[in-house]
Amino acid sequence: MSVKHFLTLDSLKRTDLESIINRALELKNKLKKRKFEATLNNRVLGMIFEKSSTRTRVSFETGMAQLGGHAIYLAPTGSQIGRGESIQDTARVLSKMVDCIMLRTFKHDRLEQFASYSDVPVINGLSDSFHPCQLLADLLTYKEARGSIENKKVVWLGDGNNMCHSYMNAARIFSFQLVIACPKEFTPDSEILKFSKENILLEHDPYKAADSADLVVTDVWASMGQENDQKNRKEKFKKYQVNSEIMSQAKDDALFMHCLPAHRGEEVTEEVLEGSQSMVWEEAGNRLHSQKALLEFLLA
Ligand code: CP
Ligand code: NVA
Repeated sequence: MSVKHFLTLDSLKRTDLESIINRALELKNKLKKRKFEATLNNRVLGMIFEKSSTRTRVSFETGMAQLGGHAIYLAPTGSQIGRGESIQDTARVLSKMVDCIMLRTFKHDRLEQFASYSDVPVINGLSDSFHPCQLLADLLTYKEARGSIENKKVVWLGDGNNMCHSYMNAARIFSFQLVIACPKEFTPDSEILKFSKENILLEHDPYKAADSADLVVTDVWASMGQENDQKNRKEKFKKYQVNSEIMSQAKDDALFMHCLPAHRGEEVTEEVLEGSQSMVWEEAGNRLHSQKALLEFLLA
């Protein structure tokens, strides 16, 4: 049987993604009662980070520990991959030792290449193009708070980046309407857009975009690797900030999400981030439960 990887949301069927989200809810409830199941006893996850992380690292490492397994952290520097050992060699060596590998990297094709040489499941812990693990947590968060996301209106404000691309995939898979408002030169990838076009609307006016939204989502204006362009982006993205005026365009019971880390006063105001519609802390915590369910699914 071929190895199952999780490189984008499209790596799995909608029904599989739904089972993962349902299992995540179950695991979350069990954890509240301090009930643990050692479903991944003696299993080891290798985690390679070529970029920084707080949530992704801690959620995967904690998740493996709670399921009876173990996780190994390879930092951006310190391992041989950081000194130029090839992706092919690293993938082949690690898959002889660990049961699953999470890779956070730059170009998405580096991740695809890694997966093609790996004999064990590979999870995308974020690439320049996608962040599917975050979507599992966001979908779980929405489901817990509001039920089904099908036919809801989700608004993405800001950069057409990796998070935005994963929302585009989610819109097609879970049949919700995604309105993307971003400056023209920062629109999402045209191929990804074409693939999900039936569920996506590009709207450059952020107020129109947010009108009657059920969920408002944003992310930093300069992603990891784009730090040198931060000043330019701050200027160009100004009008796409999620603030109370934007939230007042959305439905009264609309939610706000952000994958974090956030830059208060840039893509989101303090008031919205800390406000009653903000789900960001629950969303961050849901990384743990959704990834535990993902690991079980891939390793079962
Ligand atoms: N949201 C997210 O992936 O956070 P980290 O970069 O801290 O892992
Ligand atoms: N778009 C952000 C997400 C961080 C979790 C980045 O790639 O830096």
